[in-house]
Amino acid sequence: MSAEEINNLIILKQRELEENFAGDVRAGLSAEHKYIPSKYFYDEEGSRLFEEIMKLPEYYPTRSEKQVFEKYRQQMLDYIGGENEFNLIDLGAGDGEKTKILLRHFMEQKASFHYTPIDISKDILDLLLDALKNEMPQLKTQAVVAEYFDALQWINDHTKERKLVLFMGGNIGNFEKVDAVGFLRQMHDVLENDDLLLIGIDLKKDPFKIIRAYADSQDVTAKFNYNLLNRINNELGGDFDLQHWEHYASYDPHSGATKSFLISLKEQDVYIDALKNTFHFDAFEAIHTEFSYKYTLGEIDALAKKAGFKREKHFLAEDNLYVDSLWRVKK
Ligand code: AVJ
Repeated sequence: MSAEEINNLIILKQRELEENFAGDVRAGLSAEHKYIPSKYFYDEEGSRLFEEIMKLPEYYPTRSEKQVFEKYRQQMLDYIGGENEFNLIDLGAGDGEKTKILLRHFMEQKASFHYTPIDISKDILDLLLDALKNEMPQLKTQAVVAEYFDALQWINDHTKERKLVLFMGGNIGNFEKVDAVGFLRQMHDVLENDDLLLIGIDLKKDPFKIIRAYADSQDVTAKFNYNLLNRINNELGGDFDLQHWEHYASYDPHSGATKSFLISLKEQDVYIDALKNTFHFDAFEAIHTEFSYKYTLGEIDALAKKAGFKREKHFLAEDNLYVDSLWRVKK
């Protein structure tokens, strides 16, 4: 695997990440039910918009997870045991705001560990590294720019310590349910027996509360969704006219599927120069852009089991909206 190393930041396979955008847009907009993969939300502007989403009054998951970390950070440390060096791996670290709650506590308790934030956005990791250098100069940090499995594979090949992997923020909700099992199974396979995974999962709840979180009153989530079209315009020479698109979110209480769409408000053709192709949209045709699946605690236990983990503990938020579930790798 090709890796470029700059100070304490490692970039894996960056070229491929970029090249796939065009191919994935071509595939998604040629499908019968059009889609754009949600991983493309997070360029610099998209990451900034997501930070804004996390501050919205309607977007509860971030605040619930913060509260879980504040309440249970010592219990979390007890599970990994701070005496022997461990590697705290943060998948999709973002700005690290929530992780800092653990980092500060672990440092205060003089736990022996180092921190490995992983994200597909180099920009956000640069910011995080800067912030950590100022706020926690003693912290040993090595950041990795990569997709999750490339990163985990790389870590497995380069380190030997026990791992506590954080997969926070409800990111598992982005996978369709069968794919979530496959993803976590792969995670299980790349980890060692007894490694720990702390996974944040948004719970099923009042459907109106969920819809408000994904169609907020200030339209920040709408802008986040439109950013995909802006990216196609800017990076692939597309001519999407944002005036003729609308953000729409839906929730199915049986499956727990929260879905985001971009709706074409009229019949229109959109040319994308990098693909030398015109895509046709009927009036009210939708581009599916994101899943955010919600689970029950029972469904989470079943998921852990299917993926080869033993569920140790549900760290439930006080408002019961959200859970951080601690799983142990069993081989
Ligand atoms: C970062 C994937 C967890 O699905 O709730 C927020 C992204 N999308 N509002 C989520 C998101 C719309 C978020 N995740």
